Amino acid sequence: MKIIEVENLNFSYSEEVKTIQDVSFSIEKGTYTTIIGHNGSGKSTIARLLAGLLEKESGTIKIDGMELNMENLPKIRNRIGIVFQNPDNQFIGSTVRDDIAFGLENHCVPQEQMDDIINENAARVRMTKYLDKEPTHLSGGQKQRVAIAGVLAMKPNILIFDEATSMLDPQGKDEIKKVIMDLHKEIGLTILSITHDIDEVAHSDYVLALDSGRLAMQGTPHEVFADERKIRAIQLDTPFSMKMGDFLHQHGVEVEKHLTMEGLVKELCQYRSNM
Ligand SMILES: Nc1ncnc2c1ncn2[C@@H]1O[C@H](COP(=O)(O)OP(=O)(O)OP(=O)(O)O)[C@@H](O)[C@H]1O
Ligand SMILES: [Mg+2]
Repeated sequence: MKIIEVENLNFSYSEEVKTIQDVSFSIEKGTYTTIIGHNGSGKSTIARLLAGLLEKESGTIKIDGMELNMENLPKIRNRIGIVFQNPDNQFIGSTVRDDIAFGLENHCVPQEQMDDIINENAARVRMTKYLDKEPTHLSGGQKQRVAIAGVLAMKPNILIFDEATSMLDPQGKDEIKKVIMDLHKEIGLTILSITHDIDEVAHSDYVLALDSGRLAMQGTPHEVFADERKIRAIQLDTPFSMKMGDFLHQHGVEVEKHLTMEGLVKELCQYRSNM
């Protein structure tokens, strides 16, 4: 079942420049989609249009079969959670608990239910120990986990991550990528992740590649990265494992193209044992 359907979407911030041009795509429920594209290609704008934070100029957006319009906006907002890049800009509460509670209070959720929801979602992102701490005293990765718990508390069925790991150190990045992957696998949430992390892209189900406001490529990571010329033409990079594979080819080691280092290393081990 398609959970997001976008047809001929257009949007501009100003009259001079078209920011999103005739973009159409659809996303299957429960899938993990990555959105890639050079800086300024329109990725965050698409995310904001889908979440109803910006109003489209023309075209249609359907979420869960419902057209995104003024009438359906409140219902659709409840179905989509969005986590942004900068963990410091997402805090409202003076403790982690208050912060996770913020959206619930706005939705007038009774106190007895609120505690259960807070505990459940803090546990899901492994932040139970920090519930009474001040969010400003946490590490970047911990802050992003709290932001995710706050979004999850609203029970969305689509989660959008707009470069949620880009400001974190390698350990923080890995923590958040694991949380995202678990949410996808364990509760079957539909994930849209805007990222420059090729390894994350390689592990996603589907890829949308934007170039100057247009959808330049879409498909599985294999399909998208198979067209290396086009990937380079839209100013993107191919995975390190593919470059390594090319290098090995040039040196007489015939290996398949792999999107991940795990795949390449596995094949090399096989290759070696057959020598
Ligand atoms: N609030 C705004 N007002 C005017 N122009 C904007 C605004 N936000 C973004 N833009 C412009 O719209 C275009 C698309 O921006 P967007 O933020 O969607 O790109 P992006 O692909 O998310 O880039 P990045 O990888 O740098 O985050 C850019 O040219 C940008 O300068
Ligand atoms: Mg952006």
